[in-house]
Amino acid sequence: MTPNDTLWDAEPHTLAKHAILQAYLQAWFPILARHHGRVVYYDGFAGPGRYSGGQEGSPLVALRVAREHQARFNAQIAFTFVEERQDRVDRLREEVASIDRPTNSHVEIVHDQFEDALRGTLDSLDRLGLQIAPTFALIDPFGINGIPFDLIARLLKRERCEVLITFMNVTLQRFVTQLPEQADRLIGIPDASSVIGREPDSRSRVFRSRQLYEQSLRGVAKYVRFFELRDRGNRPVYDLFFATNHARGHQKMKEAMWKVDGSGEFSFSDGVDPSQAVLFRESPGESVAPVIHRQFSGQTVMSEQVLGYVMDYTAFLDTHTRAALKLMERESPPRITVAEIKVDGTKRRRGSFPPGTLISFSEGDT
Ligand SMILES: C[S@@+](CC[C@H](N)C(=O)[O-])C[C@H]1O[C@@H](n2cnc3c(N)ncnc32)[C@H](O)[C@@H]1O
Repeated sequence: MTPNDTLWDAEPHTLAKHAILQAYLQAWFPILARHHGRVVYYDGFAGPGRYSGGQEGSPLVALRVAREHQARFNAQIAFTFVEERQDRVDRLREEVASIDRPTNSHVEIVHDQFEDALRGTLDSLDRLGLQIAPTFALIDPFGINGIPFDLIARLLKRERCEVLITFMNVTLQRFVTQLPEQADRLIGIPDASSVIGREPDSRSRVFRSRQLYEQSLRGVAKYVRFFELRDRGNRPVYDLFFATNHARGHQKMKEAMWKVDGSGEFSFSDGVDPSQAVLFRESPGESVAPVIHRQFSGQTVMSEQVLGYVMDYTAFLDTHTRAALKLMERESPPRITVAEIKVDGTKRRRGSFPPGTLISFSEGDT
């Protein structure tokens, strides 16, 4: 149920989302702020800044991370917080006024709807022929309204802009039949709702929705990753979609997700193939081994190709790839054979996969 009071209770999954946001911004602010004079944190559905239990809302999380890491960069961070409800705007202003802000920052609290606010900003930048500063946008609605895909695409087409979106996949299923045009607008595909509606059951409708949204995002961003957040009962809560054109941003977001998953409170799943979601909780090396084998079956490739594939196209990290390769080399029969001499003529240490190591994959599936 959508809360009506100014403040509401923080659900455990909200805190998990904030932990991901915090871990990502701890990496993102210093990386981008080192190379740019100004970066933007844009919170499109900002909320009142606190929860009824006193926990920080996303705007305060972002301000705190910037303050804690300000010694590592000297760029200005411009914070834009957009909120449509006046009472929540007022509360957010009070909260922001009561905390120590990062020294080199500018905070703007906008009382508006996300769609109008962002469209207005992009229109005026276009009129003036200006580029937007590198931007991280958190788009965190209660439901599926007010985040039309054409607007997300417009933002992502700008250089160095990236988005973290709460995609309310379960809520979406109601709209697919009742208000199909809203579902189509969200996904950015004219007949998305009818494609989803043709699926035989709710599970496959959820998979299909996710797949279509991912497809739309891939049209405008090189790296797209979604994480299905599940509660302790293994019930899906929502999907978090991250889209960026930055390899480094993609890596840092994956690291943030793995860090939070390690807390034991939540699990994430990721589907390169949505019908075979990978649960993060499983041993990552074992989980990614079949994914790697499927990709390179019957081929001889360099170790950096394998590491690059896993980093760019899956939810896994380099450490997981190395663990998987170790496992595949040791097992009987081994799925890989690794050349002892690297291409530069030096010897490789067993169990390590430095650049220039040739790996031959056996034929067959996994
Ligand atoms: C899920 S809450 C956001 C929570 C916040 N991001 C956080 O993590 O602490 C959604 C917020 O967006 C506001 N909202 C709803 N529709 C909106 C719209 N179209 N534009 C901007 N804000 C909106 C709601 O009033 C609510 O405060």
